Amino acid sequence: MAFHHFIGNGLNRSEKIQLWVVNTLLNSGIPNEKRESSIQWELKHTSGVIQLARLLAQKRNVNEELAIIAAALHDAHLITNGNYAEHAKKSAIIARNLLESSQNFSKDEIDEICEAITKHSEKHIYSSNKLVELIKDADCLDCFLYTGNGYDEKPKDVLRHYYKRIIQIRRELGLPEEKCFIKRLTELGE
Ligand SMILES: [Fe+2]
Ligand SMILES: [Fe+2]
Repeated sequence: MAFHHFIGNGLNRSEKIQLWVVNTLLNSGIPNEKRESSIQWELKHTSGVIQLARLLAQKRNVNEELAIIAAALHDAHLITNGNYAEHAKKSAIIARNLLESSQNFSKDEIDEICEAITKHSEKHIYSSNKLVELIKDADCLDCFLYTGNGYDEKPKDVLRHYYKRIIQIRRELGLPEEKCFIKRLTELGE
């Protein structure tokens, strides 16, 4: 069967969540002037994180569907409200409401997705939860593909873990070593 290209009624449950993200941004009543990141950026970043999460899920043998949904909603608060303060926890609350009201997900699935969203900003913490770490890594990878120093406002002891992560993820994916990341990590005292 031909791909639906997000037209019609043939969308699966994860695609319906992705459609919610796109439609919420396209129909947002909050203009860019009142946002800390633009509607256009959120569309691009969320799409990027979804596809990178998909790849990492395949590579790491993690549930791909849950990874896609957690990626789609990881910055839900930026999508609906446009500001970064406490956005990980606030995004998880939005995600829980959305997933529960869809009636398409079990409680365990919702808990797993929301845990990954709540913890996605804790890049300096390394857990044994594969989905949690996957969302941190997909987020980090997308941002570092745009800019090599996009996180420099972070405190140094947290910032060095962004560089540790991006170096490690690129190695895992067999991508060329980026000397600027290694140099920055050295500067940060690693
Ligand atoms: Fe975020
Ligand atoms: Fe993000």
